[in-house]
Amino acid sequence: YGDPSQKIDYVFKVVLIGDSAVGKSQILARFARNEFSLDSKATIGVEFQTRTLVIEHKSVKAQIWDTAGQERYRAVTSAYYRGAVGAMLVYDITKRQTFDHIPRWLEELRGHADKNIVIILIGNKSDLENQRAVPTEDAKEFAQKEGLFFLETSALEATNVETAFLTVLTEIF
Ligand code: GTP
Ligand code: MG
Repeated sequence: YGDPSQKIDYVFKVVLIGDSAVGKSQILARFARNEFSLDSKATIGVEFQTRTLVIEHKSVKAQIWDTAGQERYRAVTSAYYRGAVGAMLVYDITKRQTFDHIPRWLEELRGHADKNIVIILIGNKSDLENQRAVPTEDAKEFAQKEGLFFLETSALEATNVETAFLTVLTEIF
């Protein structure tokens, strides 16, 4: 999880967005601290965590921003997106509505963020396969149409979380 004394070559800001309870904060906890909690509280305002990793022999500090999915807890939107070079658009594979809202999140993102921002669509909670409500193919097709990367993850089982961040960070690079 990175040597804090090493020099930093790049700092990349990446934002997490998506409906409440899809698992944004737990994806971040898994990536930044290798932790997971089942009784995660809804995020209020904005939080961020960092993790430094080495990509192509350069040390990259990933600064990951996490905000509330709930409208009433959200902070000023334009400040959240300012300077972001990557975005993770998250839905819950067991809740169809969270996937149906993705076009709205994408619209907000495209309205506020830099036009070259690297975006990955993430279907989280892949461990709950028996409750799946969003077929992988639907998401894959949507991502392809919109030019987004796509992965299904499980913050609980730590599946694809690392890969998702690396996909975005390497592409930014
Ligand atoms: P807001 O902060 O309100 O926007 O929600 P959030 O998207 O940050 O959701 P959060 O990370 O707080 O997770 C919501 C609930 O889903 C918590 O009970 C988590 O433990 C659970 N959860 C998150 N990721 C996973 C996962 O991969 N699998 C399972 N089974 N549960 C998960
Ligand atoms: Mg949260």
